Amino acid sequence: MKKRDLGNTGVSVGEIGMGCMPISVTGRPSESEGIRTIHAALEAGVTLLDTADSYCLETSEMGHNERVIAKALRGHPNIVVATKGGMIRPEGRWECDGRPERLREACEASLRALERDAITLYQYHRHDPKVPFAESIGLLAELRKEGKIVHVGLSNITVEQLEEANAIVPIASVQNRMNVFDRSSMKVLKRCEELGIAFLPYSPLNGMGKAGQIGENDLLSRVAAEHGISPQQAALAWLLQLSPVMIPIPGASRGVSIASSAGASSVTLSHENMDLLNAAG
Ligand SMILES: NC(=O)c1ccc[n+]([C@@H]2O[C@H](COP(=O)([O-])OP(=O)(O)OC[C@H]3O[C@@H](n4cnc5c(N)ncnc54)[C@H](OP(=O)(O)O)[C@@H]3O)[C@@H](O)[C@H]2O)c1
Repeated sequence: MKKRDLGNTGVSVGEIGMGCMPISVTGRPSESEGIRTIHAALEAGVTLLDTADSYCLETSEMGHNERVIAKALRGHPNIVVATKGGMIRPEGRWECDGRPERLREACEASLRALERDAITLYQYHRHDPKVPFAESIGLLAELRKEGKIVHVGLSNITVEQLEEANAIVPIASVQNRMNVFDRSSMKVLKRCEELGIAFLPYSPLNGMGKAGQIGENDLLSRVAAEHGISPQQAALAWLLQLSPVMIPIPGASRGVSIASSAGASSVTLSHENMDLLNAAG
């Protein structure tokens, strides 16, 4: 797999990462199957795993995904784990909690769950409207100073929030939703390019349970047939060629899915292919 720089961090990763959420939420596989999926990702050249403390079924099992990753990565210290804090799961709901004291607790719990001394990339999951954005980001700056976090990332943000946060602490990455059908974060992507910040598009295959439907899109199917690849691989190759700061993180609960996604790294789309897929949204 080809490599890309994780923004300005000096860290280089396989250009396709893996989203680990499907291993821990509703419909999840057994733990041993989840570990096998992560191992399949490593065999395919994936070196960046995306997770969050909230990837679990509900409050009592916060950190589920991080603990499975830690087990899978024993003996693989060089794999980059990007986690997130700032969301909670009361009775299975997704809610924000960006209070600085809660973010500190969350980060410390993630360090224990991941069995690491420092978190390479710690992302603020989603702005909590009940807490001033600068207060939540200020706490992340503190954690970075203390060495608990190496790099700070943001998720689900606007250009204005990116500017505000970047003035408080250097931002290494942004994780917003983007795929062939969802271009709502194009302005954020452009600003990331200008600032040399990595962009990790989430739901790059249109989200859990919807990746299969990508095959129903005529334009994606045409491009895929031309290259002898799947429409999902074409969708990931489109993202990779859209921007040099792009590092897609397709989710997977099964090894075959992430192995196939990793194959998008060896696809080169023509200008005509890119024009067609630019029109597919
Ligand atoms: N920051 C946020 O707010 C946020 C929100 C959502 C997601 N995320 C992150 O982004 C990651 C990816 O997003 P997502 O999981 O929502 O959606 P996604 O990546 O668009 O789709 C994931 C689904 O696609 C299937 N799949 C993966 N590769 C495939 C391939 N090559 N061919 C056919 N099917 C394939 C998988 O099936 P199987 O399960 O059968 O393997 C998986 O369930 C998540 O895992 C999570 O880490 C972040």
